[in-house]
Amino acid sequence: MNFIEGKTKNELLVRFSLLGENMKDYGKYFKKPSIKDARLRKGDTEVIEFNIANELMSLGKNKKYSIQTYGCQGNEADTEKMAGIFEQMGFEKAPSTEADIILLNTCAVRDNAENRVFGEMGRLSSLKRTNPNLLLGICGCMPQEESVVNKLLEKYPYIDLIFGTHNIHKLPEYLYTAYLDKERVVEVFSTEGSIVEDIPKIRDNKTKAWINIMYGCDEFCTYCIVPYTRGKERSRMPEAIIAEVKELAENGYKEVTLLGQNVNAYAKDLESEYTFGQLLRDLNETGIKRIRYTTSHPRDLDLDTIKAMAESENVMEHLHLPVQSGSNSVLKKMNRKYTREDYLELVRLLKEYIPSISITTDIIVGFPNETEEDFLETISLVEEVGFEGAFTFIYSKREGTPAAKYEDTVTNEEKKSRLNRLMEATNKGYLIGSKRFEHEVVEVLVDSTSKNDPDMLTGYTRHNKLVNFKGNKDSIGKIVKVKIKEGKTWHLLGEQV
Ligand code: 5AD
Ligand code: SF4
Repeated sequence: MNFIEGKTKNELLVRFSLLGENMKDYGKYFKKPSIKDARLRKGDTEVIEFNIANELMSLGKNKKYSIQTYGCQGNEADTEKMAGIFEQMGFEKAPSTEADIILLNTCAVRDNAENRVFGEMGRLSSLKRTNPNLLLGICGCMPQEESVVNKLLEKYPYIDLIFGTHNIHKLPEYLYTAYLDKERVVEVFSTEGSIVEDIPKIRDNKTKAWINIMYGCDEFCTYCIVPYTRGKERSRMPEAIIAEVKELAENGYKEVTLLGQNVNAYAKDLESEYTFGQLLRDLNETGIKRIRYTTSHPRDLDLDTIKAMAESENVMEHLHLPVQSGSNSVLKKMNRKYTREDYLELVRLLKEYIPSISITTDIIVGFPNETEEDFLETISLVEEVGFEGAFTFIYSKREGTPAAKYEDTVTNEEKKSRLNRLMEATNKGYLIGSKRFEHEVVEVLVDSTSKNDPDMLTGYTRHNKLVNFKGNKDSIGKIVKVKIKEGKTWHLLGEQV
């Protein structure tokens, strides 16, 4: 970008705004996303290997980085990759107050997540006064939204780096441009590119790991921004996943959680007969003690997967299966492509093959024009299934999604009241799900000492129940047996046996 040499960041920004759309013709790194293009599903997925050019390897010497992560486990997994890249380039991890570069890895799924990020950016900008060399960056799902990038360019001139979910692997080049060329970096691809293998990862947790098995989502639920921010469904090759899990098991890891927006669609884009059920069976043989997966879509959850769960000792007896609503009319408007009856049939099969299974879910209330009757159908479904946990949300309008155009007559007050009534119903399910383990001996993977009481240990059961218990501190990082004394709504209390 030679034409801007010698300009300050603010002047630069003015030029960006003046140039508007044409800006992308200038400069190596100026590309805004288009929500319209993000709908497109085209081309084959290429798999490439990650590497960092030699001349960039020491860029981080004597510099510190900090990453703040918002949203889902997909973002947590991306943060581990970015941390791996930073550390390979010589950067050291530090708290945000001591960092030379801070990245916010953001979530776009609801507006309250976005508002928190905008608030945090304001707070972090004050750190630039004491440390003028501080670089601030924003990445993840928010920059995939055209409207967010426009707002950042107009109102947040102090943000130095803006990149999206499809180009994490280009972080070394962006850092080079920001540090050595002293240019602002804006690059967001509307559509996905390749699957990049072998990005180094820094995992904070030494016993539990998140593993991406696929990226993107092709479901296009009408309320959801994810198919636009994360692109089309692309599966990693089974061999790469199996090798990663084997290596983790050899390095002492006890648990992996397989990640994807819709893991039940795993391998459908690969030119082979391989399935998600087969992946579960193959991973069961890797030596890893615990396998979980999230998130499932009821339309793609098939009998073979349920059988694979039942047959595989190391696949846990817990399933997070988002239902979103119990009303067929709302499910149709959400484009979920299943009915209440289909969902109940899946639950029946799950309980038939895995009798002790714990099922949890996601539910949205206040979808445009949801009636009181629709809502009561959701409550009755919650009771009928016996969900043992639920993430409950008020519908949040996302620009560019089909539902954003739907007429909505439900008042905010009504939406809040429905959320409260729903939470009352789901809390009952949490408690029933805890009580059923009273006086039983369960296996717990011990995470740490309890935050509230250093004499207690804390960890999760096979059924994903949080347990606080009296036990031996040497058990941290191990799977131990615990006798449950009492089941509370949010956790179980017990003693190691
Ligand atoms: N408003 C409210 N909740 C949403 N979710 C996704 N999009 C929205 C939205 N626009 C919820 C769904 C999904 C979970 C990850 O977030 O319940 O399963
Ligand atoms: Fe969003 Fe639906 Fe895809 Fe889940 S399945 S990420 S809710 S579009």
